[in-house]
Amino acid sequence: MPRQQLRTPSTSIDLSQHFRMVDALPQQVSSQTLFQNDAGLQIEVGSGKGLFLLTASGEQPDQNFLGIEIAHKYAKHAATKLKNAGRTNAIMASGDALPIFEKQIADESLAAVHVYFPDPWWKKKHKKRRVLNEAFLRSASRTLAPGGRFYFWTDVLDYFESTLELMAMVVPELGPPLPDVASEAEHDLDYRTHFERRSRKNEIPVYRVHFDKPS
Ligand SMILES: C[S@@+](CC[C@H](N)C(=O)[O-])C[C@H]1O[C@@H](n2cnc3c(N)ncnc32)[C@H](O)[C@@H]1O
Repeated sequence: MPRQQLRTPSTSIDLSQHFRMVDALPQQVSSQTLFQNDAGLQIEVGSGKGLFLLTASGEQPDQNFLGIEIAHKYAKHAATKLKNAGRTNAIMASGDALPIFEKQIADESLAAVHVYFPDPWWKKKHKKRRVLNEAFLRSASRTLAPGGRFYFWTDVLDYFESTLELMAMVVPELGPPLPDVASEAEHDLDYRTHFERRSRKNEIPVYRVHFDKPS
């Protein structure tokens, strides 16, 4: 299904507190360097239009959130929502999340990593472009604090099954996949992400798991 076109965000909105290019992120990405406090930091890779970030940062004001989205227009759109909602615990970054995980996040420093509906890259020759590759999974496991949680939801069964197999091989320390329960959505904002909303409205099954790094 094609993605909906987004309107170009207004240039008159001051997004300085809610938007960064990844190149402008601090050398060490942490709650201290981004938010000047020691609250738990949760990172979402591929935030799309930012529904998860908006909801989670409102529901968990004692946590900090960083969304990293490679599509610039979407990253700005999500940042605008955070700004309009007056969030002080969430920032959107525009760019590739993978080098940030590889080089700019300390060991055992994250409270959670979220990956919802990553692009499936259907063609065999393109599968190496998938975000949930071996290097990223190792980085995610390394950067999660003891007791930290890794979330993965998708509506692509092949991606789901092959990722679970890969995780069992390369990051067995994260333990077994545990079912992650969806809310009973009563309105559009009850869905965790826009892609979840789209799949459920089209009655496409969604596979949801999380992994808990032992404390
Ligand atoms: C299928 S969309 C899902 C968006 C959102 N998570 C949702 O569930 O509605 C996948 C998103 O991941 C983003 N993405 C893909 N590779 C990325 C990367 N390396 N770093 C950051 N974002 C990435 C894409 O631009 C796209 O917005």
